[in-house]
Amino acid sequence: MASKQMLVVAIAVAALIVAFLPGLAVATEHVVGDDKGWALYVDYTAWAETKQFVVGDMLVFEYGISSHNVVEVSGPDFLICNQTDNAVVRTSGEDRVVLDKAGRRWFFCGIDNNCENGVKLKITVLETAPPAP
Ligand SMILES: *[C@@H]1O[C@H](CO)[C@@H](O)[C@H](O)[C@H]1NC(C)=O
Repeated sequence: MASKQMLVVAIAVAALIVAFLPGLAVATEHVVGDDKGWALYVDYTAWAETKQFVVGDMLVFEYGISSHNVVEVSGPDFLICNQTDNAVVRTSGEDRVVLDKAGRRWFFCGIDNNCENGVKLKITVLETAPPAP
């Protein structure tokens, strides 16, 4: 009977939605520095410590393009603020960076001595959100 088949399909669709909803629900947009954005005189180490970054989340860097940019490098280059030739450089003023895999990522501002002055962010992206305590 057609209506029975439709019911089965509807139940299957509902089950799929329920199965994927938790994954969608945990994806978070993290505005780096919150209200302060990507700027001088913000402690990004302290900021990152208050967050959990999970695969599928997004970082949003908000800044004035005349003063800042976002350079992504490796860990060793991050430590010494070295903008390598193959670094990913973002300059839109509202850069959205998808955290597409687990592991560490390193960002700094490549303008003037901003990196040396603390405009730098190191994060660890988790595969899945840890269970709530
Ligand atoms: C900075 O990066 C460049 C590659 O672009 C590399 O050749 C150089 O050795 C690095 N500098 C330091 C001090 O590691």
